[in-house]
Amino acid sequence: MPNSNYPVQMDVTPEVEPFFDPATNTISYIVKDPNSNACAIVDSVMDIDYAAGRITYEHADALIDYIQKHELKLDWIIETHVHADHLSAAPYIQEKMGGKIGIGSNIMVVQDTFGKVFNEGTEFQRDGSQFDALFEDGDTYQIGTMQAFAIYTPGHTPACMTHVMGDAAFVGDTLFMPDGGSARADFPGGDAGTLYDSIQKVLTLPDDMRLFMCHDYGPNGRDIAWETSVGDEKAHNIHVGGGKTKEEFVKFRTERDAQLAMPRLIIPSLQVNMRAGEVPTDEDGNPMLKVPVNAL
Ligand SMILES: [Fe+2]
Repeated sequence: MPNSNYPVQMDVTPEVEPFFDPATNTISYIVKDPNSNACAIVDSVMDIDYAAGRITYEHADALIDYIQKHELKLDWIIETHVHADHLSAAPYIQEKMGGKIGIGSNIMVVQDTFGKVFNEGTEFQRDGSQFDALFEDGDTYQIGTMQAFAIYTPGHTPACMTHVMGDAAFVGDTLFMPDGGSARADFPGGDAGTLYDSIQKVLTLPDDMRLFMCHDYGPNGRDIAWETSVGDEKAHNIHVGGGKTKEEFVKFRTERDAQLAMPRLIIPSLQVNMRAGEVPTDEDGNPMLKVPVNAL
C-alpha cells in the first residue's frame, strides 16, 4: 500500500516516554495524546529470572507508576509482535490499569507454528482470541483524540506491525538504529526479502517522522539509543540505507542469521507472548513453562 493511503498526521506530536530494560535491551514506551490524558503502552516487559523460574514486575510497575503519577488513562497496550527475547507484561498491566491489548492479525500464524512446537493441547486457541484487538494493515484506532494506525511490516516475524501515532512510529524489530541495521529474519515464518520490503514501506513515511526502536544494543560501544527518523534511516542504516538493494540485503541477512545463536529467553518468551502475556498453566492450574528439546 503506498504511503499516501495511510492516515499520517505529522501535526500531532505525542509525548513519548521511554523505559529501557537492561536485562533484555528492550525499550518500552508510554505514548501520550497531546490533547488529552489518554495514553498507550508499546511493548511492555515482564521480568524473568529464567534459571530460577521466577517472574517479577519491576519494569511493568515503573510503567504503571508513571501512568498513575501523571494521571493518565491507558487506552491501549500494543504488542508490535510476538517477541522472542522478552516476556510481555500486558495482562498484568491491563488488570491494574485497563486498556485493550492489540497485536497484528497474523498472530494466528505464529500461534499455529508455535502451538505445534510446544505441543499445546486444544485448550490453546490459535485464533488470536487472547488479544482484545487484531490489527490489519491500515487499521486505525483511537488514543484519546489521537488517531493511530498500524502498518503491516512482516519479515522478522509474520505478525510484525509498525504502529504510527501522530508523528511517531514504533517499528518493533522491523528496524534497528542506523548503526544497528536490522533484526534477524530466520525465526519460523520470518523472511529476509519480506523484511526488506517491509522496511521500504516504513521508509516511505515522511522523512521527519520520529522512529522508535524496540531494541538497542549500543553497537561499537556507543550509549544505548532508541530514537531516530525516517530520513536518518534512509540515509544511514548500515543494512538498508544508502540505496542498498534487496539482493544485497537478503544475502547479507541470510549469512548473518546463520551465525546467530537463539535468544536466551526464546523458550519462555514464545510460550507467554503467544498467549498475549499470560503464563501457561499445567493441568492443576499452576504456572508452568515447557522446554521442547531439539524443536527450535
Ligand atoms: Fe522481536
